[in-house]
Amino acid sequence: MYGLKVPLKQVQKVKQSLADLNLIDRNKLFKKTKTCVVFPLSKKPSASLLAKKFKTAELVETDFAENNRKPRSLKDALKNMLSPEEKKHLITSFDTVGNTAVIEIPEELEHKQKEIGKAIIEVNTNIETVLKISGAHQGEFRIQPVKPIAGKKTTVATYKEHGCVFKLDLAKSFFSPRLGTERFRISKQIKEGEEVGAFFAGVGPFPIVFAKNSPMKKAFAVELNPDAVKDMKQNIALNKCEEKVFPIPGDVNKVVPEQLVGKCDRVTMPLPKGGEHFLESAFLALKPGGGVIHFYQFEPADNPFKSPLERIEKTAKKFNRKIKILYKKKVRSFSPKDVQVVIDFRIE
Ligand SMILES: C[S@@+](CC[C@H](N)C(=O)[O-])C[C@H]1O[C@@H](n2cnc3c(N)ncnc32)[C@H](O)[C@@H]1O
Repeated sequence: MYGLKVPLKQVQKVKQSLADLNLIDRNKLFKKTKTCVVFPLSKKPSASLLAKKFKTAELVETDFAENNRKPRSLKDALKNMLSPEEKKHLITSFDTVGNTAVIEIPEELEHKQKEIGKAIIEVNTNIETVLKISGAHQGEFRIQPVKPIAGKKTTVATYKEHGCVFKLDLAKSFFSPRLGTERFRISKQIKEGEEVGAFFAGVGPFPIVFAKNSPMKKAFAVELNPDAVKDMKQNIALNKCEEKVFPIPGDVNKVVPEQLVGKCDRVTMPLPKGGEHFLESAFLALKPGGGVIHFYQFEPADNPFKSPLERIEKTAKKFNRKIKILYKKKVRSFSPKDVQVVIDFRIE
């Protein structure tokens, strides 16, 4: 294979130029003698490139030993591929949904997105696909635009949580693994025979985790996005809970008055942006004897419970019902100024 023989004095400069041109074969080890270094090349450089950029170097044909060392971090894996300027723009944190990594690529690094994606797979052996985020969560379905940049060319992720398995198309439905702890916490409160209104069910994580981890009788899983309903049906089958989880496609504020009035012991409302417009439906869905509502909201971090508690009080007044706050918690940070909160309350 081809190598570039470089005098020791020139090594740093040439190495950087080769990295910028993505010409180093990282699967091979470079060779070093007392006077020079030979870099393994991923392809033969053109004569004009050699003459222009690598005047002091010599193109050689030789063998190189395999580089078997596994990089320890994304930065480590990319160290020969990014220039110092590019390294400043690299965002090393990324979300994972099971076998899929979802990462933001700054504009300055778009020309190296393939290398970044491959490096993520190299470092994280459980990752099979890397998706690039190409916009913020949008519209009422809360979908985040994503595109595959490395690994399998698919936007379908496989994710496991609390004994359940989910397959979901991240380009077509909202999904976040971040509420996994919440799903399990609520599962442990559900009592024998309960009927649950799983509002904003998405691809089914709340009702399916309940079906596998609680003694509930059934869940009505209401979801507006037809693509999410499609994946939810598949997930219900995958987890063999057809007898317990019943998907209802449609808008919560239409489905409840038509089909769910007075049917539920408990309602989950994981729609932190805008969920307040559905509180009345949650009250309506509870059985006449009352029940529990799990209400999620995005709120300012410095005073997160004031507004949602006022909204709950106002709705209770309208329905002339008494409420008891059972639990309130900041679930996670959402942005530098905002947090996601949950409030559990009982309607008596
Ligand atoms: C923040 S996501 C939560 C999805 C899922 N529960 C999860 O945790 O992955 C909110 C979901 O509510 C759905 N949605 C939005 N407005 C709705 C409505 N009016 N009625 C029913 N579902 C709605 C969206 O399509 C989305 O799937």
